[in-house]
Amino acid sequence: MTTLSQDELKTLVGQAALKYVVPGEIVGVGTGSTVNKFIDALASIKDQIRGAVSSSVASTERLQALGIRVFDANDVAELAVYIDGADEIDHHGYMIKGGGAALTREKIVAAQSRQFVCIADDSKLVQTLGKYPLPVEVIPMAAQRVMRQFAAMGAQAQLRLRYDSPLVTDNGQYLVDVTGLQISDPLAFESEVNQWPGVVTVGVFALQKAQICLLGTAAGVKTLTF
Ligand code: A5P
Repeated sequence: MTTLSQDELKTLVGQAALKYVVPGEIVGVGTGSTVNKFIDALASIKDQIRGAVSSSVASTERLQALGIRVFDANDVAELAVYIDGADEIDHHGYMIKGGGAALTREKIVAAQSRQFVCIADDSKLVQTLGKYPLPVEVIPMAAQRVMRQFAAMGAQAQLRLRYDSPLVTDNGQYLVDVTGLQISDPLAFESEVNQWPGVVTVGVFALQKAQICLLGTAAGVKTLTF
């Protein structure tokens, strides 16, 4: 069996996701290196779709550069499908997302889509969410307080930096990354942290979980359904 690199696995699942794109419709597009492969593949069928709703400035720029029209989420009621990557996905389709800082817009587009198709290489499949540092988008004035709340749970949170300053998201907010968690009940965890004052979005996607995961493995693309 030939060993495929992580990059090749991403290309495989990005191409495999084309099968879920509904002709004549607008497709929801996520963010990240795996989605970039999907966007590149989408360009080959761009004349068969109306366009895309994008979850980040980076994906919007890539889509537009390839001649794919990008619609404002507010101008589209419902999407048939949302295609996005994940930092971790478990056997129920629950995910950690936000490694690329786009979690809030990703959750919005996922929420307006009937089906979430996750594309990932097999290193992302886990038994329990929490090994990957959990991204949480926060309003800047709440950052320290939110970090103290995680510390009180026995976890460690730190502000995400970029060039020694706090990273500012597409929405003008900060991100904290949380380690030391074992998220055994993702639905309860997401609901609880979402209630904390100053939290914009927690990177657990349980309410907006995946229905399908196209997993890139050494044996090819495996389709998991949840
Ligand atoms: C972006 O904010 C994330 O949710 C991405 O979907 C996630 O980080 C996966 O990215 P890669 O495909 O680059 O691993």
